[in-house]
Amino acid sequence: MARLSIHTLARWKREGRRFAMLTAYDHALARLVEQAGVPVVLVGDSLGPVMLGYDSTVPVTMEDMLHHTRAVARATERCIVVADMPFMSYQAGADEAMANAGALLRAGATAVKLEGGSAVAPLVRRMVSAGIPVMGHLGLTPQSVNQFGGHKVQGRTPAAAARIIGDARALEEAGAFAIVLETVPAPLARMVAERIDVPAIGIGAGPDCDAQVQVLHDLLGLYDDQRQFRHAKRYAVLGEAVRGAVRAYVDEVVAGEFPTEAESFPMEEETLGELRQSARA
Ligand code: KIV
Repeated sequence: MARLSIHTLARWKREGRRFAMLTAYDHALARLVEQAGVPVVLVGDSLGPVMLGYDSTVPVTMEDMLHHTRAVARATERCIVVADMPFMSYQAGADEAMANAGALLRAGATAVKLEGGSAVAPLVRRMVSAGIPVMGHLGLTPQSVNQFGGHKVQGRTPAAAARIIGDARALEEAGAFAIVLETVPAPLARMVAERIDVPAIGIGAGPDCDAQVQVLHDLLGLYDDQRQFRHAKRYAVLGEAVRGAVRAYVDEVVAGEFPTEAESFPMEEETLGELRQSARA
């Protein structure tokens, strides 16, 4: 089965066809996500907080991203796999950035995503001309959380909003095939989507983007608490389901109810007889 291509997304934008993008970080869930019909899977650096227990995406390394990208790429056949370039894998120098983006593609990604606007546009241009598809990311870019002073809505003033529109145009002009808009006012996201010819993919950016992206674990409620983010909708409460299933297993083991004959392997009577005899000898 051939993988979808970034050109399909451009066509969907022209046709006004919306699509969903979702994170996945491991083989088992990536398979389920693809089977559920998600066309674009993001191996986001949100794997830092979600999978590795970090406070933010800042500690995530290239090694982490390569490890998870390989697992997701092996799991999927049809999805576009976008891998995040982690903090400081593209900011320190263009040559290092090119090598890191190349490594993510070699690990199985179809494309890379990096954060920033006009400042990263020359790098995006260079990657695209080297054959590396690039997705942009504007608004509340989590790698800059320390610069922003927290997870705050971006683009609230006329100047900040105009900067985001300019940045989106600069990324499109540099060759980005899609742009994520994170935590920006819905009317601003709509203005951006109307002004660019590539898909604007929103998260906390209102209903008028061309596509939406969410973190899989937010959607599934796959946490040990009831956390709920304003930008996310919980479609299931798997955290509770996991805890319940594990508790039942523990209780059955302690009570001697698991395993039963059904989960055990028998031995031929004759073999058993011989074994008993030799054990007696
Ligand atoms: O890392 C991530 O999951 C992301 C999305 C929130 C867009 O970048």
